[in-house]
Amino acid sequence: MQEIKVTLSTALKQKPQDESQLGFGRIFTDHMFLMNYEKGKGWYDPRIVPYGDFSMDPASMVLHYGQAIFEGTKAYRRADGEIQLFRPQANMARMSSSAQRMCMPALDEEMALEGLKKLIEVEKDWVPHQAGTSLYIRPTMISLDVQLGVHASNTYLFYIILSPVGAYYKEGLKPVGIYVEDSYVRAVRGGVGFTKCAGNYAASILAGEVAATKGYAQVLWLDGVEQRYIEEVGAMNMMFAYGKKIVTPALNGSILPGITRNSVLTLATQLGYEVEEKKLAIDEVFADIKSGKCTEAFGTGTAAVISPVGELCWKDEKLTVGDGNIGPVAQKLYDTLTGIQTGKLADENNWIVKL
Ligand code: PLP
Ligand code: COI
Repeated sequence: MQEIKVTLSTALKQKPQDESQLGFGRIFTDHMFLMNYEKGKGWYDPRIVPYGDFSMDPASMVLHYGQAIFEGTKAYRRADGEIQLFRPQANMARMSSSAQRMCMPALDEEMALEGLKKLIEVEKDWVPHQAGTSLYIRPTMISLDVQLGVHASNTYLFYIILSPVGAYYKEGLKPVGIYVEDSYVRAVRGGVGFTKCAGNYAASILAGEVAATKGYAQVLWLDGVEQRYIEEVGAMNMMFAYGKKIVTPALNGSILPGITRNSVLTLATQLGYEVEEKKLAIDEVFADIKSGKCTEAFGTGTAAVISPVGELCWKDEKLTVGDGNIGPVAQKLYDTLTGIQTGKLADENNWIVKL
């Protein structure tokens, strides 16, 4: 493997004093990891450098045609002070899968992981201590060729930046309200819904703003064909509890294959819940919530962790799920998942990568 060159910053920033006020993705650490790609040469020059601006030509392809993909994972501080990562290989593999669809080069996953570990080592004092906090990791890949023809770039930049974070939603573990979008769609058959390409998020912002003006935290997307089947929420996959059974939309190419989703389904099975992945019609879920058959709704995601959903609004009909507090299934899964991530519970699935 190529050697990762480290250039340390001579002007370290002040670390946040009050970890209860971190919010999400507003503060960045002192260093970042970079590596470049050139067709015919592969990934080269892996390096850790002081965090700072990029200089880019205004004709750089990413700025026009959006070959940009990203990932999200976290580093957690254990009670003994040690630091650990949760399934980072899965994020690197998903980035390669996103890259393939976006006609970008597969990541050198081994080098990216090595770079990540070394970067966290350099930035270890930035991993916050308080319960519910972590160091959010944002690997990103962009195209760099300077030209305006629409075809694949020959040069790319991969980089990782870090941000100490608290809860993604201001509500924390209190249930959030979600607006079921019945006009715009997020993804279509044969499209890029299963990737973490930047454009998916750009296309979601308008609906998110409309939902926010109505008082909702995020949008729940329906399928792009019939606008009937539940896909996912802007930053999380959706699950519904029917007593001891957990139901979630099956992966269909337009939903992001969430790493938290996969982990939660595995843990749920191990905890004795029944798990079902299937096509889930919004009208049926609404009817089941009304009749009391569906007892909980919650989202799963790296940033969102496990987020109970307390209210759904679909075609102007508002429906309360549960009693305004996190339900027992979501709570159990939250405690189990975060227990493993922070080292309080045994990692029986070999998901943890210690530094
Ligand atoms: N769905 C979307 C659209 C997302 O952006 C995310 C966040 O990454 C998720 C689901 C959850 O995925 P994961 O659990 O891998 O973070
Ligand atoms: C994550 O959970 O890591 C995400 O990427 C969500 C993000 C869009 C805020």
